[in-house]
Amino acid sequence: MTEAAIATTGKAIISVRGLTKNYPRQRVDAPGWAKLRNKLWGWTGRLDDWATLNEGLPVLRAVDLDVREGETLAIVGPSGAGKSTLLHLIGALDTPTSGTVLWRGQDVLRMGSVGLSRWRNQKVGYVFQFYHLFPDLTALENVLLPGMVAHSTAAWVAQGGALKARARDLLKQVGLADRSGHRPSQLSGGEQQRVAVARALLLEPELLLCDEPTGNLDQRTGETILDLLWQLKGKQTYVMVTHDMRLAARADRVVRMLDGRIEGEGLAPAGESGGAGPAP
Ligand SMILES: Nc1ncnc2c1ncn2[C@@H]1O[C@H](COP(=O)(O)OP(=O)(O)O)[C@@H](O)[C@H]1O
Ligand SMILES: [Mg+2]
Repeated sequence: MTEAAIATTGKAIISVRGLTKNYPRQRVDAPGWAKLRNKLWGWTGRLDDWATLNEGLPVLRAVDLDVREGETLAIVGPSGAGKSTLLHLIGALDTPTSGTVLWRGQDVLRMGSVGLSRWRNQKVGYVFQFYHLFPDLTALENVLLPGMVAHSTAAWVAQGGALKARARDLLKQVGLADRSGHRPSQLSGGEQQRVAVARALLLEPELLLCDEPTGNLDQRTGETILDLLWQLKGKQTYVMVTHDMRLAARADRVVRMLDGRIEGEGLAPAGESGGAGPAP
């Protein structure tokens, strides 16, 4: 990726370039002797190319995408198109086979492990289809978790009070002020997702990534989650992977994925489902 190409992205908060992800069809690991031989003189033996054996299943095929600062971007496409994989790579929850994800022009994979953890914790919020709350923590503790991770013990002593106040306020905003002491098992799916939304927004991330945030909820409950996400949106950038056409219809921009590629922009014309073919 050249400097000139980065410059043309202008106000892109995330730029994805040539992103490829292959999952191994079957994990075939080179035996120890082959690895050692490879280290010593670069030859592993008769079956030299273990990497080729692992090449496997292409799930993303050279995806390029710019996410503009402040926009709400919906990524739609049939199941198996690679939407979740792309979202996970944007959030650095997984590593690509090749290609780069740039955060304001900076390669996220070159931030170093401490820098990357801090970036994931403070700049990015995540909302998943199945909420991923900690079952042993109360709603309030779940919302507070990113704050606990972000601060050392000393800083927590100093700033914990303010964060607790913000967590309570967020729980109030998502309509769960009176449920803060309840554990996930005592909450409905829609309520758990509201807790997850509050948690994702605790540290006021610049980027919110949502993977099918309404995918596990009935229509009305899903609608209330969408209302909340839009009500709570400040200057953040939202990237949402979804099957839910109501969500896509609210987005500023829609990108369609098919078979590991970006197929086009905008909702597909009525009658076309986006060409739901077999999963790659
Ligand atoms: N860990 C994995 N190992 C192997 N294949 C995977 C893995 N995760 C996802 N896949 C495959 O990658 C493809 C895309 O998956 P995904 O990104 O979850 O699609 P989507 O979110 O669009 O439904 C699917 O064919 C899926 O089976
Ligand atoms: Mg998915």
